Amino acid sequence: METEEKKSPAIIIILGATGDLTWRKLAPAIYNLWLDSWLPEEFAVIGVSRDKYSGSEFEKHLHEGVDKFSRSGKTKKNEWDIFAKYLSFQQGEFNASTTYSAIGRQIKVLETKWKTTANKIFYLAVPPNAFEEISGKIGSSGLAADKLKSRIVIEKPFGHDLDSAIHLNALLHANFDETQIYRIDHYLGKETVQNIMAFRFANTMYEPIWNRNYIESIQITVSEQLGVETRGNYYETAGALRDMIQNHLFQLLCLITMEPPVSFEADEVRNRKVDVLNSLQKINPEEVHKHAARGQYGPGWIKGKKVIGYRQEPDVSKDSAIETFVALKLYMDNWRWQGVPLYLRTGKRMEETISIITIQFKSPPYQLFPTQAIDNWQPNRLILSIQPHMGISTSFQAKRPGLKMVLYPVDMHFDYNESYTSGTPEAYETLLLDIMEGDTTLFMRADQVEAAWKVLMPVINSWATNPPINFPNYKSGSQGTEEAETLIAKNGHSWFEMPLKNIS
Ligand code: BG6
Repeated sequence: METEEKKSPAIIIILGATGDLTWRKLAPAIYNLWLDSWLPEEFAVIGVSRDKYSGSEFEKHLHEGVDKFSRSGKTKKNEWDIFAKYLSFQQGEFNASTTYSAIGRQIKVLETKWKTTANKIFYLAVPPNAFEEISGKIGSSGLAADKLKSRIVIEKPFGHDLDSAIHLNALLHANFDETQIYRIDHYLGKETVQNIMAFRFANTMYEPIWNRNYIESIQITVSEQLGVETRGNYYETAGALRDMIQNHLFQLLCLITMEPPVSFEADEVRNRKVDVLNSLQKINPEEVHKHAARGQYGPGWIKGKKVIGYRQEPDVSKDSAIETFVALKLYMDNWRWQGVPLYLRTGKRMEETISIITIQFKSPPYQLFPTQAIDNWQPNRLILSIQPHMGISTSFQAKRPGLKMVLYPVDMHFDYNESYTSGTPEAYETLLLDIMEGDTTLFMRADQVEAAWKVLMPVINSWATNPPINFPNYKSGSQGTEEAETLIAKNGHSWFEMPLKNIS
């Protein structure tokens, strides 16, 4: 990427500017983009909220957030003072037309001063139930009339199920062209997630064996030690399937299993991902239990500290049926992956915070070594470690030094921290920059979101009609539920131990 070229003027209008997302993620990301000279000279952030902040209170609030969460540490006073000049605040109710006319006036002042039309980015950092109203108002106020220069950013969850996603897409399309809509899945902005494409398509080594002939199974695990914290209200309407699988884990699955795109044009890449979702085998509503297992955390221990169960968390119902853990077994109907089980697993309050993708290769067709040589036999594995360790590791059999032939699995590692000294940008930095540059590659297209919901609808419907009878069914600090183990044990497989001890 070139930093020298003149960047187009941009105004980011954050709706929900006093909320958590802005505080923890957006403000630090914008600040770091500025620090690293990625922002245009003509740039402004207009924070919009129904909260009554003065301009200086708003600035102070963001300053605290940046100091607390920025990857570059605490701000320096002289730098913050320059950056703060880009910030302004607009108080207003989201349902009032006056809010949008006030935003319009602020935009006009800036554009008159800059003597140009800026890219206007409307970032909806608000709960999903506000998407409809705000996007409608932005449309009816004419703020997004310039289809080339105005963009809307929507956070996940995009819809609650297939019908609501179709409805939301239709509402957005009433006011915005698809090219103006940026549906965020922050996993796609992660460095290690973007590297999956580089790893697969910039190298020839694995492509010939990247298929059902050589791969036994694929496992994707995204586990977190954190519980729902203060997000009980939201989580009670979501659960792990909607919060993580429909978006983050499906995106990882797409990147791992998609066909090579012909180019990196946004639609070409997104077409290949939609192909993946469309080729996932439909789950028979009668057989959901053979494909999906759910769980909810009870009390337990994390890092030597006792933690409460999900049902004891604030804003959570005492008999909540919401799942905080999901394991899925999926299959794909296509030439490359037919018959290869795809295992997805995510949960809160698990033993480790770790996101890994493991490609398990098949065993050699014939076992040539004597039984005593293969006591520790383990078929080849390729592990893409997304976070917190960032790296790629491959395991293979080697002869243990000694007079006898004894095989033992060893690893080869690529570790970001060893190979690179420069800091890694946060996902939101990458995504915000792409939005400013008008690049939709890393964002979810309407059909992609709908295809993802379509795959999950049998599970959603079945779980809604058959409430769980055994919740809570895993202890905080554990590796999840017994059912998740049996789900894949039926294929003779097991979930891999989570900690990636060898990648530091
Ligand atoms: C969010 C989910 O999208 O992703 C959260 O709503 C989850 O529940 C978070 O904790 C995980 O993101 P990350 O980047 O910390 O892995």
